[in-house]
Amino acid sequence: MAEWTECMNFGMAIAREAREVILEAFRNKKDVMLKSSLADLVTETDQRVEKMLISSIRQKYPTHKFIGEESVAAGEKLELTDAPTWIIDPIDGTVNFVHRFPFVAISIAFAVNKQTEFGIVYSVVEDKMYRAQRGRGAFVNDVPLQTTGQEDITKCLVVTEIGAERDDLSLCTMTTNIMNLLRIPIQGIRAVGTAAVDMVFVATGGADAYYHIGMHCWDIAASAIIVQEAGGVVLDLDGNTFDMMSRKVIAASSMPVALRIAQTVRAFPVVRDDEDPNKSTASNGQ
Ligand code: IPD
Repeated sequence: MAEWTECMNFGMAIAREAREVILEAFRNKKDVMLKSSLADLVTETDQRVEKMLISSIRQKYPTHKFIGEESVAAGEKLELTDAPTWIIDPIDGTVNFVHRFPFVAISIAFAVNKQTEFGIVYSVVEDKMYRAQRGRGAFVNDVPLQTTGQEDITKCLVVTEIGAERDDLSLCTMTTNIMNLLRIPIQGIRAVGTAAVDMVFVATGGADAYYHIGMHCWDIAASAIIVQEAGGVVLDLDGNTFDMMSRKVIAASSMPVALRIAQTVRAFPVVRDDEDPNKSTASNGQ
């Protein structure tokens, strides 16, 4: 829809403005605060950039809704309705940002009737603007993206993440998953420290697959449509339909590779993004 193209262009313009703020802070020492664990960090820049993005969008599109990582952390309800909704991670890769490891991204997805219409992932240090609009292809800095199409798991380079979980069950599950994939064998495993960038590597053809347990909707909603529009497949970790709220995902260059990963990896318990953590018992995935 042309209307959503205008929204996407606006999203990219404000992401470019926010880049300056992130780069300036990136070079300097930061005050770091903790969220869910000793490895789940937030800085004043995450909060500032999210406020900047939301206030610019709200000014232009006053009826639109938001799901923002730092707003949710501050207690706002996470709710995806049928209304046009911007799903925002102001700095994906906050641990990288704190350490000056040069992969940090602004991730912005836009959903209407719960369907993602476009996604923007701006890798700010590299100055790479990834974007895709539903039915209109995926691009990085205006160059079209295409997955490798690889169908043979033994020829795959796979990306994953060790997130912020530090309990034994999560760590054991994550390391066992890596071991079981390497045993197939796959050709290599990588982790960059930002789910959004990890996942767009599948769209670029730089990696053949990506899987992750424990990330949030704002980390991967934008990348998911970028991978799909580049010809890739996005599924839930158990091989079922992708569900951005489930906190489990596989993205791959082909269905056979996605399904082989689904057969090989297991999830540790996570609370869905759209569930009240105080009411629910974490789902075991598969
Ligand atoms: C995190 C990053 C990290 C992933 C975590 C995410 P944040 O997002 O994407 O790579 O392992 O699960 O929560 O906190 O830097 O926005």
